[in-house]
Amino acid sequence: MLRPLWNALAFTLAFTTLGTAAADPIVIKFSHVVGEQTPKGQGALMFKKLVEERLPGKVKVEVYPNSTLYGDDKEMEALLLGDVQIIARSLAKFEQYTRKVQLFDLPFLFDDIAAVDRFQQSPQGQQLLKSMESKNITGLAYWHNGMKQLSATRPLRTPEDARGLVFRVQTSAVLEEQFKAVGAKGQPMIFSVVYQGLRTGLVNGTENTYSNFYNQKLHEVQKYVTESNHGILDYMLITTSDFWNGLPPDIRAELQKIVVESTAHANKEAERFNQQDKQHVLDAKTTEIITLTPQERNAWRDKMKPVWAKFEKDIGPDLIQAAEASNPAQ
Ligand code: LMR
Repeated sequence: MLRPLWNALAFTLAFTTLGTAAADPIVIKFSHVVGEQTPKGQGALMFKKLVEERLPGKVKVEVYPNSTLYGDDKEMEALLLGDVQIIARSLAKFEQYTRKVQLFDLPFLFDDIAAVDRFQQSPQGQQLLKSMESKNITGLAYWHNGMKQLSATRPLRTPEDARGLVFRVQTSAVLEEQFKAVGAKGQPMIFSVVYQGLRTGLVNGTENTYSNFYNQKLHEVQKYVTESNHGILDYMLITTSDFWNGLPPDIRAELQKIVVESTAHANKEAERFNQQDKQHVLDAKTTEIITLTPQERNAWRDKMKPVWAKFEKDIGPDLIQAAEASNPAQ
């Protein structure tokens, strides 16, 4: 008589326990190498904020800035091993996975960040986000940082001024060739040691956006910046295809919307940070900013642009043409 009652009670209890026990949230570790007061730093924080608001208890985001979890030499491996779930890696650091993304490093390809944006949103640009799927890498979005400037221990006005200097570059064969084209050497070096490299004289110069330049305090160790706008430094926000496709569809759909919104935020911040950090460099009075006349800038272009030919086959001439077409008509 009691037995069915007991069974029913046990069933109810078990059911209640199952029904109320909160499933562990999905954890997204987002690792990056720059500070929080940067376009990428702010994009990552916005991503976390929106996830906390919209998917409470379901997804948790942990952001690790400033190479605190992984440097740019280890973040890709960590992603592929599942130790982190999202990174926003510079487009200059993908050549091991696809040659096509090298496009973005070609010097003097894009006139300005608006042109970069037009290309990234074009069908060809969007296709590149999928170009590493066979390697388990899914591109979710592009995030801007901005146009790169040159810096060195001596003033750089003409390409000849760079002759014999060693410039720190991101791990990119295109960027090494770019410096070779002006008689200098491009020395690949991870981001977290650039300051030390410049301070100790291991390298004499570098190229980066004002945002990265100021945030890494490079103005303390570089007396001259040349506002060359000769290339871009942008990011691809990536995850692994395994992680992304393995998410419950409703969560993936919400995360997709959050990616779009945090992308808009990071991109809006990018312009502001670069202008503000240029001003910070000027205010620090450690570094002279050299502006180039159109003729002077053309001299750099003439020296560096022949580098394109060396990479055209790997990147694909069609892709280069599509990117060039995104520039405003002259
Ligand atoms: C660099 O290495 O200079 C940049 O890629 C760092 C970054 O992530 O902005």
